[in-house]
Amino acid sequence: MRLPFSILLACFLFSPNGILADAPYDQVQDNPTWSNQNLDDVRADKYFHESTFAEHYDGRFGDRKLNYDERRGHLTALMQTYISTMNDIGAETWIMHGSLLGWYWSRKILPWDSDIDAMVSEQSIHHLAAYHNMTVHTFDLHNDDAEDNGHRSYLLEVNPHYANGSLDEVNKIDARWIDTTTGLFIDITTLRRNATAEARGIDGPMMVKDRHHYNYDDIFPLRHTTFEGYPIKVPFMYADILIEEYGEKALSDVYCENHIFDAELREWRPLSCKDRGTCGYFRNPVDGINLPASLDHSVGGSKTNAPHQIAGVPSALHNLPHVGESPRPPRLSQQRPSR
Ligand SMILES: *[C@@H]1O[C@H](CO)[C@@H](O)[C@H](O)[C@H]1NC(C)=O
Ligand SMILES: *[C@@H]1O[C@H](CO)[C@@H](O)[C@H](O)[C@H]1NC(C)=O
Ligand SMILES: *[C@@H]1O[C@H](CO)[C@@H](O)[C@H](O)[C@H]1NC(C)=O
Repeated sequence: MRLPFSILLACFLFSPNGILADAPYDQVQDNPTWSNQNLDDVRADKYFHESTFAEHYDGRFGDRKLNYDERRGHLTALMQTYISTMNDIGAETWIMHGSLLGWYWSRKILPWDSDIDAMVSEQSIHHLAAYHNMTVHTFDLHNDDAEDNGHRSYLLEVNPHYANGSLDEVNKIDARWIDTTTGLFIDITTLRRNATAEARGIDGPMMVKDRHHYNYDDIFPLRHTTFEGYPIKVPFMYADILIEEYGEKALSDVYCENHIFDAELREWRPLSCKDRGTCGYFRNPVDGINLPASLDHSVGGSKTNAPHQIAGVPSALHNLPHVGESPRPPRLSQQRPSR
């Protein structure tokens, strides 16, 4: 298996006693003078702040929006280091939203997406909050192209509002896995039991603070798979979840966000003018690729920005990636969250 980065698990915690590791920011941050946090928030008790320059960056660690090509490698490493850390810790996590859609197509992050989403179980968020909040995890990515040879640190930060399970627009993200070099991060939300439904004797409804709701059987038992070359889990009913969130076309349309799915390579690539037959319109068609400025937006989280078809390009439904449909195993009672 050849990966763009091979990750050496040189992971250690900046933790004096090894148990509670609440590192103050000045120990974590390389550039303490930077302040690109957008503190202009609607509510004073919003915990995580995005940056002033872009939505999907932490302004304490990043100072600019990365371009399309740069971003990709950083996001891949962000995902790989997250997966390997959660696997080491033993936290139960799986991918959702735009990341799940990327997994469905190519087992990789969607190249136009800068928003990575993971979900954890309630038990896992409690564990992360109690023992791993503000821990810094350092990896050597052995990336010869990078100035620092790929020596990277990632911060795991848990929102103190995580323990409050009620819907809360400003504190719906329970934790973040943050790249301290670029400010890119993974949003981590918690799948919770719905106490209201349980009180009414309804078995199954689960909730997330961002207003998504799922049934227990939509998610569990989790399926074992790989993402960006690393072992990860996905929800049992991944296809239904994706259709509900992005519409049926998102699973079949090979044109999306100015990209085309190359069935042979099993990869999304930017549409070129050759794909569109419009090369004559470009002055400088470098490889015929003309990326629009708007490529940084995300497909995650919201039902409104479902991937759309590019006008004039016929939909081709061939060679779609096929994911084996295994029969549902009998439900194991110990997989249910303890009540
Ligand atoms: C995590 O640590 C930060 C920094 O010390 C703190 O502000 C936050 O409340 C902590 N989160 C939890 C869940 O304790
Ligand atoms: C939980 O969050 C909600 C929404 O922000 C808030 O109204 C409520 O007071 C919080 N509860 C506690 C115990 O902090
Ligand atoms: C919890 O379940 C109840 C009853 O099924 C439902 O009305 C409510 O919307 C659910 N809450 C959330 C936050 O999903």
